Amino acid sequence: DLYKPVVVAVDGPAGSGKSSVSRAAAKALGFDYQDTGAAYRAFALHAVQQNVDLDDPAAVVKTLPTFAYEIGIDPDDHYVRVDGVDVTDEIRTPRVTASVAHVAKLPEVRHYLVDLFRGIIAGTSKPGIVTEGRDITTVVAPNAQVRILLTASEEARMARRSAEITGQSAEETARQLSKRDQQDSKVVDFMTAAEGVTTLDSTNLDFDQTVQAVVELVRSIATAP
Ligand code: DC
Repeated sequence: DLYKPVVVAVDGPAGSGKSSVSRAAAKALGFDYQDTGAAYRAFALHAVQQNVDLDDPAAVVKTLPTFAYEIGIDPDDHYVRVDGVDVTDEIRTPRVTASVAHVAKLPEVRHYLVDLFRGIIAGTSKPGIVTEGRDITTVVAPNAQVRILLTASEEARMARRSAEITGQSAEETARQLSKRDQQDSKVVDFMTAAEGVTTLDSTNLDFDQTVQAVVELVRSIATAP
């Protein structure tokens, strides 16, 4: 179908640069951009705001129906709202980052959010949408025309994170990143490429080169006869 939007699925670990790369690639392609980690973060914040114990799965799951989530999928107008309140910056705070794993590991939460992500993908009015996370190539959109696993050496990921985070030691950043890798990989395996998924190793690429590699991959696959 000539007019079917192109779905681009991007997975990768923390610090691989997948959010900024996916957003810039979407912009270059004239596509929408969906950050699914933002939804896990927003839901964690919502659960905290409902005063539930994050270690009580039943209580966390009970707050799903009242999770009023809005996301801006225009790469030039990225925002996240919960209950009508802008939480774009708040979901990046260490407090939220530390609580996400508690909610992301719950199957009910994942099923609920996966449905939400698929609805957003189906609703794009652009020629395509880049969706980025941990299980997009495998669970959310296994039939995406373009599926990419964005990797980088642990060293490179730590260096990028350190450059982003100011006011804490490189050792502390390294410790946090490997803790997150460990927690996140218990929930979904995002380190190995599933069958048919293209691995893009950005260790020796700068930001623009990585974006360009994604854009070229999309053009070569999505316009192939
Ligand atoms: O990519 P991020 O750091 O914003 O992701 C936040 C958290 O959500 C992280 O702990 C992994 C989890 N996540 C997930 O389990 N599945 C996704 N598709 C996206 C994020």
